[in-house]
Amino acid sequence: MSEKLELLYLKEEEVIEAGVLDMKQCIDTIEEMFRLVGKGDYMMGGPNRNDHGLMLWFNKEEKFENIPKAGPDRRFMSLISYLGGEFDVVGNKWYGSNIENLNKGLPRSIHTFTLNDKDTGAPLSIMAGNLISSARTGAVPGVVSKHLARKNAKVVGAVGGGAINQSCVDAITTSVDTIEKVVLFDINVEKGKQIAEKLEKKINLKVEVVDNMDECISQSDIVTVATSGKVKPSINHSSIKPGALILLTGAADLSPETYKENRIVADLWSMHEKWLEDGLSHPEGISSILDWTMSGQLLEMVNNGDYDSGKIDDIGNIIAGDKEGRKSDDEVIICMTGGLPTEDVAWGYKVYQNALEKNLGTKLPLWDSSYLMK
Ligand SMILES: NC(=O)c1ccc[n+]([C@@H]2O[C@H](COP(=O)([O-])OP(=O)(O)OC[C@H]3O[C@@H](n4cnc5c(N)ncnc54)[C@H](O)[C@@H]3O)[C@@H](O)[C@H]2O)c1
Repeated sequence: MSEKLELLYLKEEEVIEAGVLDMKQCIDTIEEMFRLVGKGDYMMGGPNRNDHGLMLWFNKEEKFENIPKAGPDRRFMSLISYLGGEFDVVGNKWYGSNIENLNKGLPRSIHTFTLNDKDTGAPLSIMAGNLISSARTGAVPGVVSKHLARKNAKVVGAVGGGAINQSCVDAITTSVDTIEKVVLFDINVEKGKQIAEKLEKKINLKVEVVDNMDECISQSDIVTVATSGKVKPSINHSSIKPGALILLTGAADLSPETYKENRIVADLWSMHEKWLEDGLSHPEGISSILDWTMSGQLLEMVNNGDYDSGKIDDIGNIIAGDKEGRKSDDEVIICMTGGLPTEDVAWGYKVYQNALEKNLGTKLPLWDSSYLMK
């Protein structure tokens, strides 16, 4: 006779009560996750265990009217992984994204996150995933800044003021205590002003809004880029300050010399290489990955033989001490973070543990007794 099987359901308000917005705890958790990934104690999808996720690829034209067509930031994606160490659990972030959501009063993307027991596969928890995702995404530049920003970094430049970059700014200013101000450029300047007001209250630092990107980039020791939509930000090579750390969480246009003359670091380069494989097998070729991946341009250079990817270091290896960190105060470092499924598992699991401790959420039965086992 099989037992009742229950999982813990957490709605967004409960995820918040469980501390999802506690950036300090999130940064520590994500740093530990990178250490585990650096040691190899993880598994992501696919035979090479390094897949970002499985995506529904929309095309510009479809034979059937109801099939969704390609549009800016339009996709469905499932990110699966196992993470070892203190986590020792499996999880799946499943989301749909469509820029049109913003016109419907919805976030650009809508996420659910599931945790599963590694042995039985039984779901442990299903939770609202948006804040898990935005917090873990922001925490990554926070961790990277802690390890790779130049000493005494004073100015953070933010390109894009959406949910993700607000989280990135929160994390960077949490982990680098020398920051004195944030300079924000959003293509929608009015939105930028509103965001600046909200951010100032959160991070307790001045947030200056500028109406051109060069002004933002040229004075910044740390630059965080996370935009969405049709217009990719284009970063001038000559505007980059010596010693700057450029954090690409979203796609941007950089010149070939910016890639060639500076150091490149990734969250996990083998995951980006899988995007290249996917792009090459797509009917539209590599152009299919250029709009939405932060590494697309570099992958194209690698594919054309214009860049040796052997020079790229992974953050996990730097944190674990197997690769050198910043080499000089003047070194410009470009860091591309595509988002590891293990980040969601790490932070989702921590939030789940916090929820259990605080007795939050609703227990939902999957069955009272399994029909199949009767
Ligand atoms: N790497 C990761 O782990 C990861 C995870 C989640 C999201 N992302 C990426 O982060 C990006 C931002 O996501 P979001 O949810 O904050 O989006 P959003 O739509 O909520 O906000 C994007 C903001 O960027 C602004 N913007 C658009 N084009 C711009 C430009 N050229 N210059 C300056 N500002 C511009 C918009 O006005 C908007 O305020 C997306 O590309 C998304 O794919 C990355």
